Amino acid sequence: MTVTGRQVSRSRIEEIGAREEESYRQRTPRSAELFERARQSLPLGVASSFQAYDPYPLFMTDARGSRIWDADGNEYIDFDMAFGVLAAGHSHPILAEALQQRVANGTCYTFPVEDGIALAEEIKDRFGADFVRFSNSGTEATMDAIRVARGYTGREKVIKFEGGYHGHHDDVLVSIQPPHDAMGPVESPNTVPASAGIPRSRIAETVIAPFNEPEMLAGILEAHRGEIAAIIVEPVQFNIGVVPPREGYLQRLRELADEHGIVLIFDEVKTGVVLAWGGAYEHFGVKPDLFCLAKSIGGGIPIGAFGGRREVMAVIETLEGSQHFAGMGGAVGSGIEHSTIPGGATRVAHLGTFNGNPLSMAAGLVTLKQILTKDAYPRLHAMADRLTAGSQAVLDEFGLPGYAINVGPKGCVMFTPDRVTNYRDFIGLDADLWAASFFFLANRGILLPPGPDDQWTLSVQHDDSDIDRYVEVFREFAAELTA
Ligand SMILES: Cc1ncc(COP(=O)(O)O)c(C=O)c1O
Repeated sequence: MTVTGRQVSRSRIEEIGAREEESYRQRTPRSAELFERARQSLPLGVASSFQAYDPYPLFMTDARGSRIWDADGNEYIDFDMAFGVLAAGHSHPILAEALQQRVANGTCYTFPVEDGIALAEEIKDRFGADFVRFSNSGTEATMDAIRVARGYTGREKVIKFEGGYHGHHDDVLVSIQPPHDAMGPVESPNTVPASAGIPRSRIAETVIAPFNEPEMLAGILEAHRGEIAAIIVEPVQFNIGVVPPREGYLQRLRELADEHGIVLIFDEVKTGVVLAWGGAYEHFGVKPDLFCLAKSIGGGIPIGAFGGRREVMAVIETLEGSQHFAGMGGAVGSGIEHSTIPGGATRVAHLGTFNGNPLSMAAGLVTLKQILTKDAYPRLHAMADRLTAGSQAVLDEFGLPGYAINVGPKGCVMFTPDRVTNYRDFIGLDADLWAASFFFLANRGILLPPGPDDQWTLSVQHDDSDIDRYVEVFREFAAELTA
């Protein structure tokens, strides 16, 4: 579908972009100062390269509810919400209170705690799972889930979709946003490392497919018959703006995975407990074999989790009963030699000093049981629809080239006239227009994630007046741009 939009003059975009960046510098001298100091100790001046952007990131000091304050005391309505971590909002009073008590009673034991059982039970309920394990980040969750899938199937290759982000381990840090001239043909894209330092041997293990193209995927699976352990997919591609799956697409993934004996992994790091109480699983009604969680389940405390089907997760206890074991003669329980497993391992290792620590378990439990409860979602969806409708009305009124979109409480304006269905369409996005809007909005107290590939996330602590203020400022931007 093509959305009609007036051509906005390039020079006008550049003029507003430059003016707003200058105004950003004027308003945030303390952040500039801290950035200069940070660069002496931290490469790019930040702890994660995602936090870096030009001219320098805002340094923050304080946040509560839907608000965040920078080091110069400027207040923002936060629509970034820590890259989508904070569906609970900043320092939710119930969570803050519970964590204070937790901190006073020890935050790390490396012995299990009852809260960990209760949190696993809650996640099992929401995602229809049999088993759950905890980690400390989304990266760890996808890394662990992939190892479990490999252990279960006895296969080594993984399918990942172009434009998808699943964390920063080697298997998946490929073809995130590959350069145009490196990506190869759409029906069999190249595996393009997104970082130096990834060994060729790792790159060879990840096969890339285009998102939303089931028949192309079927061809790729055929070409790799018997080799693929897992298909990992973010049910909505939330790392290239907002790219929903086409009608029936996730169901087709389910069928193809079954046909080929592949473990289907939903990366629900952004979608889980945000799109719905039961994440993308509930929202789209398709059940993966494994799912990965992080971000919002901890209400702002570092946490990760993965879980799913009993037979697959059971490889953490024993490989007996796994596809791998059955493939070696089906002699389940016979004690046959695990001759194809290097070192003769009899199960999949899942480890971590901080896994299931009392602080993150308490945070997860309070967030899921008391804040992101079933009745929170209708309001989150209504606010998101209001923001999308308001933004779309502005785009229509001023004929800007773009469209507003959300899936549940996450959305954005995609500054491209054509609907994006996968990474190749996303390349057409107008990055200058996005940047001009980012600084224009930030300078007027509306904070978005600092990149056109991310999106706003609403929390239970936002309200309609926050939404309306966003739309009002976005309208001012559109009016100036087309004046
Ligand atoms: C879909 C998805 N998976 C995994 C990750 C990695 O999570 P973390 O940054 O907690 O390692 C992210 C992070 O943005 C993500 O968006």
